[in-house]
Amino acid sequence: MNTEIIDIKKEYERALAAADEVLKRGDVAAIPTETVYGLAADALNEEAVKKIFAAKGRPADNPLIVHICDIKQLTALVEEVPEKAKQLAARFWPGPLTMIMKKSGLVSKTVSGGLDTVAVRMPFSPAARAIIERCSMPLAAPSANLSGSPSPTNAKYVFDDMNGRIPLIIDGGSCEIGVESTVISLAEEPPRLLRPGGVTLEEMTAVIGEITVDEAVLNRLAEGKKAASPGMKYKHYAPKADITIIKGSFEQFKELVTKDSAAALCFDGEGELLGCPYVEYGGKADAYSQSARLFSALRELDEIGARKVYARCPDTSGMGLAVYNRLIRAAGFKIIIA
Ligand code: TXA
Ligand code: MG
Repeated sequence: MNTEIIDIKKEYERALAAADEVLKRGDVAAIPTETVYGLAADALNEEAVKKIFAAKGRPADNPLIVHICDIKQLTALVEEVPEKAKQLAARFWPGPLTMIMKKSGLVSKTVSGGLDTVAVRMPFSPAARAIIERCSMPLAAPSANLSGSPSPTNAKYVFDDMNGRIPLIIDGGSCEIGVESTVISLAEEPPRLLRPGGVTLEEMTAVIGEITVDEAVLNRLAEGKKAASPGMKYKHYAPKADITIIKGSFEQFKELVTKDSAAALCFDGEGELLGCPYVEYGGKADAYSQSARLFSALRELDEIGARKVYARCPDTSGMGLAVYNRLIRAAGFKIIIA
């Protein structure tokens, strides 16, 4: 299969028309969003949705997020919209927030991975919204990487993983947030945070009150334990390099990196002070710049051929929780307290 890339900033009309054609014929197109690129297909066409699973190599029990551009599309997808979902939608949609609710009969078990719930998100990205609006169908879309590798934050990374596997990639430039959306379940009370992301726990708590943080957010899932969010049980965000997080000061980090001849995943401005191969992933005190950089930094570590990598540990409050959640998975939960 030939994979075409169209830059939506340069060829707006042609990009929208091509995406519309591919999606309407029941095929898969990669599309930009503000978080990461998505692998999109008509959420209500089971054959089209199966092509997403095939292109990604995704296990069938790992459900997809359904993307909408208008709140009116939500009611058809779910049994009912809980009051707290309405409050969160009013405050954070469109944006990097995915809400899980009891699904309606319209949503197939293929989309929901066999669960009786469905995950729904209204993205903020103008390109994503224009594509959903044009084809006027809800779009099922997981991140556009091969199952297990880091989510792609630009069209080149999508192409690296999906060349020959899908017919179309819409290039919308780099994703500004850079990590996947926050996932919260409103199918239980109190609501449960399943994946931290661009809308923070603190911001949501201010709107709806108590939220349980699922143990898989910060910990490795215990052997044999059922994941609240199936995606959390799979190895994720993993570059080829072997990463270990170092908790401690910059001086302690420098000492360890040198002693063990590791490469460094460090904060902006630190690399040249280390005297070893390095990739920087944002400002030390700026979790938003870290999230925007993290996934491409992980891919760059592979590009420079890094094998053993020590990573600086981010702060875990606010947006930092999303960064830390991805980094501990990339590190296979390996942490050294310096
Ligand atoms: O930012 C994002 O969310 C991106 C863009 C493309 O929108 N999408 C994305 O999708 O990250 P994906 O499939 O890579 O991650 C969705 C996560 C998975 O961990 C999945 O298991 C979980 O959400 N999920 C989806 N539906 C669920 C459900 N009904 N119950 C529990 N977890 C669910
Ligand atoms: Mg993913």
